[in-house]
Amino acid sequence: MPNEPFEIPGVVRINAGQGGLKRIVVSLPQADAEIYLHGAHVTRFDLAGQAPALFMSKSSMFEAGKPIRGGVPICFPWFGPKKDDSKAPAHGFARLREWKIESITQPEKDRVVITLMLESDAATRAMWPADFVMRHIITVGAELQMKLQVTNKSKDPIRFEQALHTYLSIGDIKQTTVEGLANVKYIDKVDGARTKSQTDPLIKFTGETDRVYTNTQSMCIVHDDVQRRTIDISKSGSDDTVVWNPWINKAKAMPDFGDEEWPGMVCVETANVGEESIGLRPGQTHTMTATVRTWPSK
Ligand code: BG6
Repeated sequence: MPNEPFEIPGVVRINAGQGGLKRIVVSLPQADAEIYLHGAHVTRFDLAGQAPALFMSKSSMFEAGKPIRGGVPICFPWFGPKKDDSKAPAHGFARLREWKIESITQPEKDRVVITLMLESDAATRAMWPADFVMRHIITVGAELQMKLQVTNKSKDPIRFEQALHTYLSIGDIKQTTVEGLANVKYIDKVDGARTKSQTDPLIKFTGETDRVYTNTQSMCIVHDDVQRRTIDISKSGSDDTVVWNPWINKAKAMPDFGDEEWPGMVCVETANVGEESIGLRPGQTHTMTATVRTWPSK
């Protein structure tokens, strides 16, 4: 019998990861993954024979109360700074809390499904006065699927922002383009939050980039010319896509991010923020999914 009730011999182990934080390690013939209970945070997804799909900073902290830098942080119930409280944690509290394992199953030989859960408590209510239950359902197989479900358990309607803040691993940001957002309007956070339109069908990176593409449900394709591969990010239940690379100065300013790491990552985030924030009546559930898949380029 495995030590942990949720372990699956030879396929799923649960042990202490970096900083002693509990993690779930999945090993399938075609894919390996790691998920920390801290933040329900996927830190690794590697398809056999391919470079890692997710970027992880070597300087990341692995510490209770601190976010993990890289992988897929969950932003909830606000995105970026909290509008009415500058002392509240950036991107909300979901990435700072330890989630519970609800189930781990292997419905097929080559697929593992992990369900993690977070509920409101006194600490979350102190920051955000709402009752909720959230589930993060992570499927590891030929692709990585992340399904974030939020249910309103309050007596009143609730409204929240959210993101699956996917850090993708690339060879060189200057030789990477992102396809899928042609003609979409975006808020340019590095140019006074001005609204612009994506005229070039490919996003090219020449400096700090921090954009919220609004009202878009499209799949994005990251073309990585150095590693000669593409990464697809498809989604549902999401109307925004955030594209972020910190470039030189912001990388230096982040204590948990190596000064030289910025060329090796790009975030393409599945989100509902600002005007696309989600409103739920009591008892209602919203589901947002993001699916990541890597392919060798032809
Ligand atoms: C992005 C935001 O999603 O996350 C950026 O658009 C922000 O503005 C970045 O800098 C990283 O945020 P944090 O809180 O993880 O440092």
